[in-house]
Formats: sequence, structure tokens, C-alpha cells
Amino acid sequence: MGYDARFRVWRGDSDGGALVDFTVEVNEGEVVLDIIHRLQATQAPDLAVRWNCKAGKCGSCSAEVNGRPRLMCMTRMSTFDPAEVVTVTPMRTFPVVRDLVTDVSFNYEKARQIPSFTPPADLKPGEYRMKQVDVERSQEFRKCIECFLCQDTCHVVRDHEDNKQSFAGPRYLMRVAELEMHPLDVADRREMAQEEFGLGYCNITKCCTEVCPEHIKITDNALIPMKERVVDRKYDPIVWLGNKLFRR
Ligand code: SF4
Ligand code: F3S
Ligand code: FES
Repeated sequence: MGYDARFRVWRGDSDGGALVDFTVEVNEGEVVLDIIHRLQATQAPDLAVRWNCKAGKCGSCSAEVNGRPRLMCMTRMSTFDPAEVVTVTPMRTFPVVRDLVTDVSFNYEKARQIPSFTPPADLKPGEYRMKQVDVERSQEFRKCIECFLCQDTCHVVRDHEDNKQSFAGPRYLMRVAELEMHPLDVADRREMAQEEFGLGYCNITKCCTEVCPEHIKITDNALIPMKERVVDRKYDPIVWLGNKLFRR
């Protein structure tokens, strides 16, 4: 059954802005992104919002709904009490471009800094062999839709802008971990994880894992194993050599 919802949406740009109240129709089965689109169509034609698939797969519609990092297209209106005010604000960790759209280029810069997959030089196409467990690990990490909600949530950058320089965030530490644990990757990525990408700043709060719409176990399956490998390297280089030589 339809009803009129109270929405509070942040409007503004890099010079500043404010929350603006709207009353907007909600129909059965709708999600927050539907309501934002209805606002655009009926009351705020210049409201800026980024979206693409409306199916939780492109990672574009990230925002904060009632202060929680969410995909707007996957947040059902039925999860709210019809009497409550629903507040929609842009991701706080990234600079605002306009309204709900943020500049997420921090993430692309971090992605570019990670050296790509490095197989042994003498390995020819068709000679690649991997255990199923290694395939499955990569597959889990590759479910990432680059919504950057984990990056938005992690307190290391959310609460300390200065850390952006030295911390890549959970999404990119996960990428470093994926490559480090890849049995065919010969690069030693542990020092760079620690020194260049700031693995040591992560204190395993798991907030990144909690908000991931793909339910990737970022902390348990990527960050903690990566931390263990960094410790291994520090105390036992033979362990690392053995892993690389005999896990193929
Ligand atoms: Fe989004 Fe999850 Fe990928 Fe982070 S790991 S960017 S939360 S899909
Ligand atoms: Fe941040 Fe996730 Fe670590 S939220 S502190 S990267 S466990
Ligand atoms: Fe694609 Fe929401 S519009 S994830």
C-alpha cells in the first residue's frame, strides 16, 4: 500500500550544503533509489545522483541512508517505519561533487598503485594450474562491485583524512591480499602491503565486512591472512619461500 514518506536529502556542492526536507509518495516494493528518482521527476529536477543498474551490480548508487553506508537500489523502503524520516546523504569519506554524488577518484588512484598479476616468466598460457581452493578464494574477492562502501566506512580514512595518503583501504588491501595469496603470483607483496598500502593501520574492526553488499569476508579472508603473512615474512623468510615454491 502506498503512503507519503518524509525524506531528508543532502543538497549542495563542494562549497557546502544542507539537508532539505521533502514529502514524497512511496509505493509497494520500492527502494530508496526509486524515491530519489521520484523526487527528481516531481520536485527536484536538478538533484544529482549516480546510478546505473538498479540491480546491486554496478556499485554506482552508494550513499548513506540514515547514516549507514548502503546501495540505494538495494535498500527497500519496507525496512523503514512509514512514520520515520529517511535521511539520505552522500558518502562522507569522499569529497562531494554535488548532492549525492561524490568524487571517488581516491579509490582509482589506489587501484593504479598496485602492481598487476605477475606470473612466473617461463609459464606459458595453458600451463596454469591451480587448486580449487585457490580459485574459490579469488572468486570471492572478485565479486567486488567497487561500490566503495567499505572504503567509506573504514574509520581509518573516514575519521582521519590525513591517512588517505598512507592507507589504501579495505577494498585495495583485499586486492593486494588476493594477489599475494595467488599461487601463480611471484611478486612478494607483503612489504608493500605494510609500507605503501598501510595494512598496519587496519585494527580489524570489521566494519568494512559488515557493509559489503556482496558479503565478501574482507577482514577474515583477506586482511587477517595478509597480516599473518606480513608477520611470517618478518620472522621466517623460509616459510614465504616455501609457500611460493611449493604451492603451485
Ligand atoms: Fe563494495 Fe564489498 Fe567491493 Fe568494498 S569489497 S567495494 S563493500 S563490493
Ligand atoms: Fe578498516 Fe576493515 Fe580494517 S573497517 S580497520 S579495513 S577491518
Ligand atoms: Fe547499480 Fe545500485 S544502481 S548498484
